[in-house]
Amino acid sequence: MYKQASWDEPVVFNLGKSGRRGHILPRAEEGIAESVGNMDSLIPSSMLRQNRPRLPELSEVEVVRHFTRLSEMNYGADSGLYPLGSCTMKYNPKINEVLAGMQTLSDLHPYQDESTVQGILRIMYDLERWLSELTGTHEVCLQPAAGAHGELLGTLLMHACLKSNGERGKRTEVIVPDSAHGTNPASATMAGFNVIVLPSGTDGCIDVEALKSVVSEKTAGLMLTNPNTLGLFEKNIGEIAKIVHEAGGLLYYDGANLNPLLGRVRPGDMGFDIVHINIHKTFGTPHGGGGPGAGPVGVSESLSKFLPVPRIVSDGKQYHLDYDRPQSIGKIRGFYGNVAVLLKAYAYILSLGFEGLKEAGEISVLNANYIMKKLMHVRGLTLPYDGQKPRKHECVLSAKPLKTDTGITAVNIAKRLLDYGLHAPTIYFPLIVEEALMIEPTETADKEELDRFVDAVMEISEEAYTKPEEVLKAPHNTAVTRLDEVKASHPKTMALSWRMHLKRQSAKT
Ligand SMILES: Cc1ncc(COP(=O)(O)O)c(C=O)c1O
Repeated sequence: MYKQASWDEPVVFNLGKSGRRGHILPRAEEGIAESVGNMDSLIPSSMLRQNRPRLPELSEVEVVRHFTRLSEMNYGADSGLYPLGSCTMKYNPKINEVLAGMQTLSDLHPYQDESTVQGILRIMYDLERWLSELTGTHEVCLQPAAGAHGELLGTLLMHACLKSNGERGKRTEVIVPDSAHGTNPASATMAGFNVIVLPSGTDGCIDVEALKSVVSEKTAGLMLTNPNTLGLFEKNIGEIAKIVHEAGGLLYYDGANLNPLLGRVRPGDMGFDIVHINIHKTFGTPHGGGGPGAGPVGVSESLSKFLPVPRIVSDGKQYHLDYDRPQSIGKIRGFYGNVAVLLKAYAYILSLGFEGLKEAGEISVLNANYIMKKLMHVRGLTLPYDGQKPRKHECVLSAKPLKTDTGITAVNIAKRLLDYGLHAPTIYFPLIVEEALMIEPTETADKEELDRFVDAVMEISEEAYTKPEEVLKAPHNTAVTRLDEVKASHPKTMALSWRMHLKRQSAKT
């Protein structure tokens, strides 16, 4: 059985001593030193900091040991299987990190003259074209910082399109299936649309008749994830696209689940007009923990003119930033997007090539189906919406029978899995499955790792019937055991920074 390290590690502010240093700044080059002189004199006095910031002062070895100990109390995609459904937590090759961290790239500044940043402009130009090719869209914008940010851009593009067609104010509704991720209705609402929730059919897919009954002259668009969050491919996608387009709406593709389709099917060919890609799921950067990410958006030809500026263009010799797009919605993010994450995607695509990406997608499907087959008959678990098999990249099981039989819930299974040295799957999502366990092993899990996961779930099911206390009180073997999750996310108790924590403490005394 797994046993996680547990250190009584203070916060970094309580380590070190005044005057300790872990880093020696290089001496300024002579020429620069002469021309710059005293740095303070270059900063207007009104902008000079009055008090020194309270920063921890530590030696290099203290810093390394502090973060090593913290990492030993953590679990990441580098530790083992991380089957967080719809998050595509794969192992990401380290070569991508090395390339993205190269000083020639990381030292670049977005205000540099175009002629001095031709290399990075070329990389971004090529990446846009590759993503365009992979998604079957006309043009791609790299700016958005995450999937949800891409959704916001997508829904703002719907607005721009409606405005130019003179339909703004008439088409006020965006349709979202009840299996969608919460960011879909949130993004549509932020963009000012009313959200119409579409109940899934008995097979877990879009109910075409239900869709027909909700589209109208008010429909601005439909947001769809394909494969959907049950891991099911929307088999009627052709008809769905026709219904939405004939009603005058646009079809939006939530690309969170694009991984299994790469090189096989393209959203643009399915009829989608706007497509976001979660770079941090599919292309070489781990998802989760709040970032960093990138959510490029691809669009069909008629929507290209609305994309944010600047656009990177080439005259065949040089790359340029083009701001001359009168119908652009403006900017969605500073400069050109999250360049380091985009660089990792560039390296990932280049190293795998088209065939490699396709193979990765295929193995992700194989792995998800292996897990599904092994677990769907485990005592206490069921496979809802079991009509369509195989699944794509993920499968969603329900622990409802286990809850009825033993009182053990999906969250208890998730917590107990931590004791087996495994990360838990996504739980309680999609909302249409009670006691949902949403498992996405990705292509980077080998058979031994998949078997370890399957065996652990089987043992937990056995424990639930024979020694439920063991599962109810899990995890036992981790650095931190049961957390008060309500307290952790309650605005009254949540402290987002050390300074905030200290303020709270002093207010109490
Ligand atoms: C299906 C789906 N859509 C959209 C998102 C939002 O993506 P992001 O977290 O990059 O904002 C997620 C996030 O996990 C998701 O699973």
